[in-house]
Amino acid sequence: MTGRNPAGRVLSGMRPSGRLHLGHYHGVLQNWLRLQTEHDCFFFVADWHALTTEYSTPQGLRENIKEMVVDWLSAGIDPEISTIFVQSHVKEHAELMVLLSMITPLSWLERNPTYKEQLKEVKDRDLHTYGFLGYPVLQTADIIIYRAENVPVGIDQAPHLELSREIARRFNYFYGDIFPEPKTILTSSPKVLGTDGRKMSKSYNNAVYLSDPPEVVERKIRTMMTDPARKRRTDPGNPDICPVYITFHTIYSDEPTREWVRAGCTTADIGCIECKKAVIPRVLSLLEPLRKRREEILREEDMIWRILREGRDKASGVASETMKDVRKAMGLDY
Ligand code: TRP
Ligand code: SF4
Repeated sequence: MTGRNPAGRVLSGMRPSGRLHLGHYHGVLQNWLRLQTEHDCFFFVADWHALTTEYSTPQGLRENIKEMVVDWLSAGIDPEISTIFVQSHVKEHAELMVLLSMITPLSWLERNPTYKEQLKEVKDRDLHTYGFLGYPVLQTADIIIYRAENVPVGIDQAPHLELSREIARRFNYFYGDIFPEPKTILTSSPKVLGTDGRKMSKSYNNAVYLSDPPEVVERKIRTMMTDPARKRRTDPGNPDICPVYITFHTIYSDEPTREWVRAGCTTADIGCIECKKAVIPRVLSLLEPLRKRREEILREEDMIWRILREGRDKASGVASETMKDVRKAMGLDY
């Protein structure tokens, strides 16, 4: 154990969706980077959670896991100070999920807003499965098996975390005080819009990826949608409704540059290309160190799986200790 306080342990996970984009970087990874210097952090790949929806194509998981972990590492998630692992490598998550499923009322799961929403929205596959309904039960096991107190997630995960606290409380009520109730650390993330002005997302095909080469990043920003009212160079625009401004200038430019954009755009003094050119180098310089680290990592691909196995060993140590306490508390230590 390092000198950091395990009482403040942080845990978070992501489903392996392949390459990460700037939305993931500014929304999640930057917070992880900040937290890992101050807390005992566990970051894991939620491959079983991915299967709740991708169950018909599990073959894609291996590559998606690799790509995502390469992005974590190249962004600076440091296996020397954080524990990085794959969920399915630590079988105790599944054991705890079974036990938690005994005490989780169906009504809690059925009223979960994320569940109801996904059932309505996702049309290309059948999500009326036991596993999908139990998604938050597995997520609870992921968290409390490390007795994590802090869970940094985006607002979309807040209902799941609320359920996790309820399930932990119910366990403690039946069997004794084993688990802390995990706190949600809501990560206030900037609004990251994609090249078409909608939320940046892989499924919208509008994302700038951390692994995009510089010329691709440049092309994506150069062709990015702007204020639609600026049809001609001589039309004034409004930065407040322009995705280039809302996302790129807000995140990457300094105040004088933003002032220059606001003044130039609203008077048609500057053109959109000029405006975009001002921010492109800043995006590239953020990504440059990531690109270098990525090259090093990919030169030695075995290292990725080695890091994940070492993480598994550390995580398993903690998880198996917790499970001993759990079995004992429930009288299952025969
Ligand atoms: N459900 C989370 C997501 O989709 C991933 C996840 C699984 C998670 N288990 C977790 C996040 C435990 C935090 C803690 O992003
Ligand atoms: Fe957007 Fe800049 Fe063009 Fe104004 S000048 S519409 S802020 S890209």
